[in-house]
Amino acid sequence: MGKPPNLYAFQTADELAPSLRAFVLDAQNNALDRHNVFRVGVSGGSLPKVLGKALLDTSNGEGKVQFDKWEVFFADERAVPLDHEDSNYRLVKEELLDKIPAEQGRPTVYPIDVKYLDDVQEMADQYEQTLVSVFAARDSVRVPMFDLLLLGCGPDGHTCSLFPGSPLLRETDAWVLPISDSPKPPPKRITLSLPVASHGIRIGFVATGEGKKEVMKQIFDTEEGRQLPCGLINTFAQERVSWFVDYPAIEGVSFPARRGSL
Ligand code: 6PG
Repeated sequence: MGKPPNLYAFQTADELAPSLRAFVLDAQNNALDRHNVFRVGVSGGSLPKVLGKALLDTSNGEGKVQFDKWEVFFADERAVPLDHEDSNYRLVKEELLDKIPAEQGRPTVYPIDVKYLDDVQEMADQYEQTLVSVFAARDSVRVPMFDLLLLGCGPDGHTCSLFPGSPLLRETDAWVLPISDSPKPPPKRITLSLPVASHGIRIGFVATGEGKKEVMKQIFDTEEGRQLPCGLINTFAQERVSWFVDYPAIEGVSFPARRGSL
């Protein structure tokens, strides 16, 4: 048995920014030492905004974000045009990419191929090919290992576009999966599979607000909650997972949280 996931709690959502920044920078620096590139998978939802704030506001701490060494992938994406209001690419672009000062360089970004908006299976296959070309060309791997995955947690315990009870959770081979009936709109999406989402060298979850407290109690304190997608990632990845939450999100959670800075 490894060590359990880390749960870092802060009074408010704004107060978690310096620790999230320190966590991302540590993952970045380790990755750059290992292979001179930093491969990150990001979710949609509230995460891109929190991430943008953590990384772009230098009052959140020291250390250099080497955006020119970043390769950004989407942990899940909606099958919509890249400028659509539901697009995770658009969200990440608006909250982070467009705000990076020119002198900090630009990440290489891997969006979905919008040629396949009407065929999510093909879109997932193509995105998997993109991952193969980046990850597997250099070392032959069973699953791609992101240096960092930054994920959200839905009030039902979903993460990426892996929803509770979905047959997609049983996938063991594919790296990227299509979904046509997402309970959270829009219905058509692609998502990293559970094996990929739980193999990040580091995995950071951000969950804030009292709307998350019931699911957080389940995930951290109950056996059933460990079967939810976020709970499964906790179980597989153990201490490679760090949660960044505010106090309202863990009200009533018994699992020990470290309060204050990282
Ligand atoms: C998506 C997201 C999704 C999100 C969670 C949490 O594209 O729908 O990737 O998995 O991360 O629903 O969203 P919030 O952080 O907004 O609660």
